[in-house]
Amino acid sequence: MTNKQKVFITRKIPDIGIKMLKKHFDITINQEDRQLTKKELIEGVKGKDALLSLLTDPIDKDVVDANPNLKIIANYAVGYNNIDLTATKDIIVTNTPGVLTDAVAEHTVSLLLSIAKRIPEADKFTREGKFQGWAPLFFLDTEVTGKTIGIVGLGRIGTRVAEILYKGFNMKIFYYDPSKNKQFEKKFKAKYLPMKEILKKSDFVSLHVPLTPETKHLISKKEFSLMKKTAFLINTSRGPVVDEEALIDALKNNKIAGAALDVFECEPDIVCNPNNYTIFKNLQNIIVTPHTASATIEARSKMAEIVAQNIINVLKGKKPLTPVKKS
Ligand code: GLV
Ligand code: GLV
Repeated sequence: MTNKQKVFITRKIPDIGIKMLKKHFDITINQEDRQLTKKELIEGVKGKDALLSLLTDPIDKDVVDANPNLKIIANYAVGYNNIDLTATKDIIVTNTPGVLTDAVAEHTVSLLLSIAKRIPEADKFTREGKFQGWAPLFFLDTEVTGKTIGIVGLGRIGTRVAEILYKGFNMKIFYYDPSKNKQFEKKFKAKYLPMKEILKKSDFVSLHVPLTPETKHLISKKEFSLMKKTAFLINTSRGPVVDEEALIDALKNNKIAGAALDVFECEPDIVCNPNNYTIFKNLQNIIVTPHTASATIEARSKMAEIVAQNIINVLKGKKPLTPVKKS
């Protein structure tokens, strides 16, 4: 008989985190590399002291009620919109901020450059043997240097994206956030603007907000109508921040120049409305990646260490490293 504390892990994460947890606790891991059903989640948490969840696991009242004695829900992600914080009450909830900032910022800038330079389209064209020779007006694209970037949400990731674009491409930075950051403004010659002005003035708009009731459909029909026809939208935050119907309308009717997305409103589906699938798939002015912005080996390993350390701390009666604010 062992009286070790018990941890439930909803899906395999990098070994480093598993090893840390194994040293101290009895762990149960979903052995199949797939998302658990709600029923399996509910069964899984029963009798455990800690839950290690992913952003793809909806942690709602039913899951929490299945085990009100959980001490910690440690989310393997920076975003935690998958957890209903009104249901978790006294249970400590943690996330993994800080360690995926570079990964997501790099991915964001890659998307920005790829859509501006038409990289996937050019790659496909060339592979298909369509290249007939250099020509002055052939495959023209957009220069990034000196253009304007509107950063929406100035957390760690938004700040890092701004820094790369300022230092690397001398981009002019506008930002919107609930709070102003004078130091940031000074360092990167950035200007704080209301959302409306950001949309009107930016050549690129990049979203870095968490998903909350306030940010759901932050970018919708009206917002697209304010954007420049030549502007690009980049979203590496959460899908529902952008209204899918409005996005498709904007792209189809060339209300903006293009979009580059790592996240989708009804993930893992790339469209919520099946009727939009063919239209979406055939859009030329869009680049999509499958929610892989934080998927560097480095970031995912560090996320595993932090998620494990949060659980170790809490089950050993210490403070978690990275608790999320509950109000
Ligand atoms: C990734 O999307 C994360 O929130 O960690
Ligand atoms: C996430 O780490 C953010 O603060 O942007």
